Amino acid sequence: MSVHIEAKKGDIADTILLPGDPLRAKYIAENFLEDAVCYNEVRGMLGFTGTYKGQRISVQGSGMGIPSISIYVNELIREYGVKRLIRVGTCGGIQPDVKIRDVIIAMTSCTDSHVNQQTFPGFNYSPCANFDLLKKAYDTAVEKGLNVKVGNILSSDIFYRDNMDIMKKLGDYGVLAVEMETTALYTLAAKYGAEALTVLTVSDHLFTGEETSAEERQTTFNDMIHISLETAFK
Ligand code: ADE
Repeated sequence: MSVHIEAKKGDIADTILLPGDPLRAKYIAENFLEDAVCYNEVRGMLGFTGTYKGQRISVQGSGMGIPSISIYVNELIREYGVKRLIRVGTCGGIQPDVKIRDVIIAMTSCTDSHVNQQTFPGFNYSPCANFDLLKKAYDTAVEKGLNVKVGNILSSDIFYRDNMDIMKKLGDYGVLAVEMETTALYTLAAKYGAEALTVLTVSDHLFTGEETSAEERQTTFNDMIHISLETAFK
């Protein structure tokens, strides 16, 4: 048992999917995995282990934002020996050619969080995805005929923001979309020698104001889970 996860050693697979929402973890376990068993209910942050096409895999809610995902990623890697982590989540589009329902694969992420300034004072550390996972996810998305974009994203500490000028400028400098976790995931994976990738679907757009409907969110979520599960074992 770790501080926030009540699983026993060996209960969690080497490969894990990380949705922010714990109920999404339950949904993935019930609809995509076989023989799934719940290993964590601490703080309602559900975690399950089951199999996909005969291979062992876990799925763990990570919560919202860098502090929350940092707790789970630290404990999963350090206490349970997890080696491959794939975040599955949603993001807000920034660039004009990013459309709602698109799949975004984060090659790297910039951030307004100061979390890495504590580790590297005066430096801007660039967290990056595992290339092997990234290539597999991209190829799988293309095979499925999905609209997929690979590039830089923003991991922000802010959901409700006052200053949209900075978002516009980030778009001008190639940032595709905004979410709230990837900087922590990629940095911790690098620190501990694990593999990490973030796969997102665009749920809203900061400048057009468009949003996906509940039904569209479900369909795009299912596409993203298929990509991530295939990527995990390709
Ligand atoms: N996740 C989904 N949409 C988002 C947004 N607009 N800002 C930050 N995170 C998000």
